[in-house]
Amino acid sequence: MNEATPRVQIAGTGRYLPENVVTNDDLSEILDTSDEWIRTRTGIAERRVGPRELRAAEMGACAARRAMQRAGVEPADVDILILSTATPDRLLPSTACDVQAILGCVNAVAFDLSAACTGFLYGVSMAEGYLTARRGDVALVISTEKMSAILDWEDRSTAVLFGDGAGAAVLRRTENGSGILSSHLRSDGNLAELLYRPAGGAIEPMSQEVLDERRHLMRMEGREIFKNAVRSMAEGCSVALEKAGLAPEDIDLLVPHQANIRIIESTAKYAGIPMDRVYVNVDRYGNMSSASIPVALDEAVEEGRLKPGDHVLTVAFGAGLTWGAMAMRW
Ligand code: ACO
Repeated sequence: MNEATPRVQIAGTGRYLPENVVTNDDLSEILDTSDEWIRTRTGIAERRVGPRELRAAEMGACAARRAMQRAGVEPADVDILILSTATPDRLLPSTACDVQAILGCVNAVAFDLSAACTGFLYGVSMAEGYLTARRGDVALVISTEKMSAILDWEDRSTAVLFGDGAGAAVLRRTENGSGILSSHLRSDGNLAELLYRPAGGAIEPMSQEVLDERRHLMRMEGREIFKNAVRSMAEGCSVALEKAGLAPEDIDLLVPHQANIRIIESTAKYAGIPMDRVYVNVDRYGNMSSASIPVALDEAVEEGRLKPGDHVLTVAFGAGLTWGAMAMRW
C-alpha cells in the first residue's frame, strides 16, 4: 500500500473506569487468597468494580464521548457503532443500540460483537473493512465490560483476575500514511469450554437450579488458558509484524491484552520487544476483557508514550477461543 492509498486510522480514543478501587487485601477479606498470591501469579494489585446498577452501556457511552471529542466528531456523524462486550446489559436488544440511544448516534448502524477479550481488535478490523469499502466515513468501536456482574465471587481462581471498565475509539479514513498496517484475527471454537458461562442462555435457560449451582457465572481452566494465550499471542505478533513488513525493533509500543503480567512478559519476549516498550496497566485494573486494549491506548496517548508516526503493535487473546494482533502507524 503506498502513502497515498487511504488507510483507516484511530482518530481518537477514550476510556471510563468506575471510581471504586478494590485491592487484593479487600479481596482477601472475602476469599481465601492473599495480596502476595495475586501479585506474584498475576501482577494485579487492584481493579475497579462499579456499583451493581452501573450499566455496561453507560460505561461505554462515557468512553465513547471522550473518543468522539478527541476525534472532533459529533454523535450524528457516526455511521457505524460496533460494541464489543462479554457482559451485555440485556440479552435482547444489543447494548450497542442502548449506547446509540444514550449518545444520540442517530445515523449509525449499531450492533454488538461477541469475541471476548479480542473484541476490540475484531471491532476495529470490521470497522476498517466498512470504511475501506466506503459504506461510511466515521466508525465508533466501543469495548465495555462489567466483569463484576458475571464473576463467581466465591471462586478465588477467577474473581481476583478481572475488573470493570470501558474503552472506545473513533476511526476514519486517512491519506497521511498513518493507520492500520496489518491485522491477523483467528478463532478456535473447539476450545470454547476452557472459558465460558455454562448456563443462562437459550440451551439451558436461567432456573433456580442454574442459580443455585452458579452455572450462569464464568468458569475457567486457568492453566490451559495461560498456555493457549502465550502461544496464540506470540503467533499473532509475528504474523502481524510480517504482514506489515515491520521488525520488532520498529515497534515503538506493544499494547497487549492485559490479563496477567506473566502472559504479557512471555508475549513480549517471543515478539522480541523489550518490556520498556510494552504498555502495562494490569496492575491497576486487572483483566477488563476487550476494554483492556482501548483503555491502554488511551492512557498511552495521554502519557505521551504513543505519538503520531509511532508504530504500535496490539495483540489479544480470549474466550472462544479468539485471538489476533494488529500493527498500526499512529
Ligand atoms: N489465591 C490463592 N490461591 C489460589 C487462588 C487465589 N486467588 N487461585 C487459585 N489458587 C490456588 C489453586 O487452588 C491451586 O491450589 P492447589 O495447588 O492446592 O490446587 C494453586 O493456587 C495453584 O493454582 P494454579 O492454577 O496452578 O495457579 P497458576 O500458577 O496456574 O495461576 C492463574 C493461576 C493466575 C489463573 C493462571 O493460570 C492464569 O493466569 N491463567 C490465565 C487466566 C486468564 O488470564 N484468563 C483470562 C481470560 S483469557 C485472557 O484474557 C488471556
